[in-house]
Amino acid sequence: MTTEKKYILAIESSCDDTSAAVLCNTEVLSNVVATQEIHRQYGGVVPELASRAHQQNIVPVVHQALAKANIDKKQLSAIAFTRGPGLMGSLLVGTSFAKSLALGLDIPLIEVNHMEAHILAHFIKDQDTQRPEFPFLGMTISGGHTQIVQVNNYFEMKVLGETLDDAVGEAFDKSAKLMGLPYPGGPLVDKYAREGNPKAYPFPKPKVEGLNFSFSGLKTSILYFLQRETQKNADFVQENIKDICASVQHTILEILMDKLKLAVKQTGIKRVAIGGGVAANSGIRSRLKEAEETMGWKTYIPKFAYCTDNAAMVGIVGYLKFLEEDFTDQSAAAKARYAIGS
Ligand code: KG4
Ligand code: ZN
Repeated sequence: MTTEKKYILAIESSCDDTSAAVLCNTEVLSNVVATQEIHRQYGGVVPELASRAHQQNIVPVVHQALAKANIDKKQLSAIAFTRGPGLMGSLLVGTSFAKSLALGLDIPLIEVNHMEAHILAHFIKDQDTQRPEFPFLGMTISGGHTQIVQVNNYFEMKVLGETLDDAVGEAFDKSAKLMGLPYPGGPLVDKYAREGNPKAYPFPKPKVEGLNFSFSGLKTSILYFLQRETQKNADFVQENIKDICASVQHTILEILMDKLKLAVKQTGIKRVAIGGGVAANSGIRSRLKEAEETMGWKTYIPKFAYCTDNAAMVGIVGYLKFLEEDFTDQSAAAKARYAIGS
């Protein structure tokens, strides 16, 4: 790799976080994220509101990222942006902004696939975390994604399995909502689960062939279970919240770990790197640690700020593509659906 300093401005706007980052080669100089609070009151992301909030946020967020990095626009080597997948109205904001700025500054433009960015976030320079060696299995788990990918090289990835319906974060959030917890409920389920009995209420695991996932059945069985129990005792949820959360989380983790074990078995690859907001879950973290001891896996989790949606992960892909001179022209349009490797 070249040792020459390259400054990449990266922009992420695929869902409900407006983010801009400046990287100097693989090092993050700034990573500003404006999280849109407006969606909380609706219990989920409202696409039209997300798009409007991105329009308001993008200029100040980019300014802040440059200021924090202490970099002038004129020093930038290229601009990287998330082209997809994501919400169309949200992607349009980042895409249009990146294109005009690159045109104005007359520097290369680099398109980034958001799902590849979640995986390549592991290659951001960070003294506390290790970079996985190739090949490895990447599992991205968040409110919008659930995917297992075989990563042979930076740009040689193959999706082995993904969700057929809800994402794993949605499974957490929707279960939490059924228990009357505020959105997003994932962190609260995690918190209560730590003090509950994971075997208190067994929920069925979906029967999905191969490495694909399904979480919508779990939500339905939790709904019926809670309806049944609250008919008998109106205070059932309040009285048993810890055990219910522990049982729900246990079932979700079993589903994730079963698929990971199958992926390891099928590929013979024992390096597992996870990312996405659900990587914050204390249960998945301890399961992975356990797997290191019991099954000889090597596991990797990036710093939390690089797990949730952020522009630094877009910047690392931007830098890696810059080295390959893999640039995009002004005709690049946002892509709501954008498969890895396409
Ligand atoms: O990556 P992220 O910030 O946003 C996207 O979905 O793209 O992920 C947010 C998701 C939410 O569903 C949230 O409930 C979940 O990650 N989450 C957790 C935890 N922290 C965040 N789920 C379970 N346990 C956690 N500790
Ligand atoms: Zn994401």
